[in-house]
Amino acid sequence: MFNRFLETEDQVIADSLKIRFYPISVKSAKGTRITDQDGKDYLDLAAGWAVAGIGYGHPRVSSKIKEQYDTLSFTSQLSAPEQTMVSLAQKLIDITPGSFPKKVWFGHSGSDANDCIFKLVPLEKNRSRMISFMGSYHGQTLGSLSLSGHPAQSRFIGSGNVVKIPYPNPYRPPFGETDRLTDQIIDFLENEVFKTVCPAEETAGIIIEGIQSDGGLIIPPDDFLPRLQEMCRHFGIRLIFDEVKVGLGRTGKWFSFDHYGIEPDAVVLGKSLGGGLPISSVVARKEMLDVGTGIHMFTTSGNPVSSTAALETLKIIEDERLIENARHKGEYFISLLTELQKKYQWIGDIRGKGLAIGVELVEDRVSKTPAAEKTAAICYRCYQLGLLAFYVGIHSNVIEITPPLTLTKDDIDLAVSILDQAFSDLEEQKIDMNLVKEYAGW
Ligand SMILES: Cc1ncc(COP(=O)(O)O)c(C=O)c1O
Repeated sequence: MFNRFLETEDQVIADSLKIRFYPISVKSAKGTRITDQDGKDYLDLAAGWAVAGIGYGHPRVSSKIKEQYDTLSFTSQLSAPEQTMVSLAQKLIDITPGSFPKKVWFGHSGSDANDCIFKLVPLEKNRSRMISFMGSYHGQTLGSLSLSGHPAQSRFIGSGNVVKIPYPNPYRPPFGETDRLTDQIIDFLENEVFKTVCPAEETAGIIIEGIQSDGGLIIPPDDFLPRLQEMCRHFGIRLIFDEVKVGLGRTGKWFSFDHYGIEPDAVVLGKSLGGGLPISSVVARKEMLDVGTGIHMFTTSGNPVSSTAALETLKIIEDERLIENARHKGEYFISLLTELQKKYQWIGDIRGKGLAIGVELVEDRVSKTPAAEKTAAICYRCYQLGLLAFYVGIHSNVIEITPPLTLTKDDIDLAVSILDQAFSDLEEQKIDMNLVKEYAGW
């Protein structure tokens, strides 16, 4: 039955909207489980690209959505505002660090929120240039792709005012040496980039992912983000954190930068914010968002139903102590994966914070040659065995583990036993690589 569905889907849905790892077709989902159109259940480690942070079908969000739709299905907040959006803004201001005056902008996707940064930060600073990082993924609209440094957007030239610098990747250090990685990147920025192609006094902002997610779940050295903040403050450059994927509790704190005591000038949110409904936001210094009336707005921005879902999602994160759960379950998950690493040479690196975990596969641990085909095969085999995970990374060789934050110890035991089985099947050449090849992934 579902094969016919996928055939029809293939005929009517644009390829530009697809990134496929295996032939899943979804019927329903609850908590951490997805059920396909044949009735088979899967444990979901992807959470639909980290959107289902509170899990699927949360009853509290469900009843709030219905109540809100019945009371006020829609108002264009641009011209006729209502309370829910304002309460949500207030809550976001409260959870975001920084005692300076802040405001909130609302959109629908991580991409349009990063477009907000792309447009408004140069305007506010009256400086034309922006800096971002190679490997970063900020979205697919023209502004957000211009900020991105990911291969997915490299076919588009984007805007010429963005300079991209290497991300401090401890496993694959961009300048060859792991030692003093932070110094290497900061020196490069100050002594090469600022002195040649992008003068500091013409740089409006630097946008960064605290964990570079689609770039390969890369965690910078502990001293990097504080040094970057210090440097930005010195040169009067705005520091913007894209928390679309790892924000809102996933790392074991509200935000990834909270691990380092950073106070960003602006924070970009999306994905899990709406509990499954589309909504994004930028929480920033007041003056950054008050640069002009009506210059970055969408008719359905701050949609009351999405806003209600988002407000309830934030309350659920607190009430169910999901941030603590992410922290503790993440530690447990990594400890089991580290055991697995002893069994399989292809597991080159395991890294993570909370429930944002990356498992990087290599041909061998000395050459560190990225094992893209094997990564695709493991994800495909896991799917066959009832576990959903996607892979990321500029070399397409990092299994991304971003499950719902409600994940239990039993879920983790099950996930690791399936991964173990998948690796063992790969070793014994039991995975049909012809099937895997049909799914190109990234
Ligand atoms: C860090 C980050 N920023 C922005 C985006 C873009 O978000 P969206 O796909 O909702 O436009 C993504 C999507 O993967 C992301 O991971």
